[in-house]
Amino acid sequence: MTHATSAARRRGAGRRRAAGTVRPVTLAQLAPAIEGVRLSLHVLAATIWVGGQLTVAGLLPMVRRLGADAPRRLARSFARLSWPAYAVLLATGIWNVVAVAGGQPTTWQVLLGVKIGLVVVAGVAAWLHPRATSATWLGVWGAVTGLASVAALVMGVFLAG
Ligand code: HEM
Repeated sequence: MTHATSAARRRGAGRRRAAGTVRPVTLAQLAPAIEGVRLSLHVLAATIWVGGQLTVAGLLPMVRRLGADAPRRLARSFARLSWPAYAVLLATGIWNVVAVAGGQPTTWQVLLGVKIGLVVVAGVAAWLHPRATSATWLGVWGAVTGLASVAALVMGVFLAG
């Protein structure tokens, strides 16, 4: 075997080894997938917390016709979904901040501060809503919950850009 032939064989074997090598996936390569999971969880929870409130409000006239107790029972059933969604929003919201807040301009940070304030207002109002002792306060806390939640959602969209 000539020197040239054995060198060519060595190069071929090297190429076969390279093709069969499994390279470890780096964290940087996984970043887009992790970002997708983070935002999907956040948005999914927002659809339940915000979209659920709007849906329940839309169904209320029909639910009232089902009986005096029906709206309260519907609200209790919805609470079993909405509070876990709120918890996911808080957890993924903190994850969002850790992931993207670095180096953001002042306007972004102010918007985030206002949004967090609205999230707190929405949570407190949602907690007070079923505890209201008059129809007026029931309406007030329901409206504050819905408006603050929608405003937080819109601000989230602006934060994501
Ligand atoms: C009622 C509760 C909340 C709602 C409805 C909500 C909704 C949203 C929505 C719809 C987005 C846009 C996602 C996208 O367009 O990809 C978003 C983004 C964001 N949210 Fe929330 N969110 C809530 C709570 C929170 C909390 C508690 C925090 C912080 C502790 C937070 C921090 C953020 C940040 C930093 C972004 C931008 C993420 C990015 O650019 O990757 N959110 N939010």
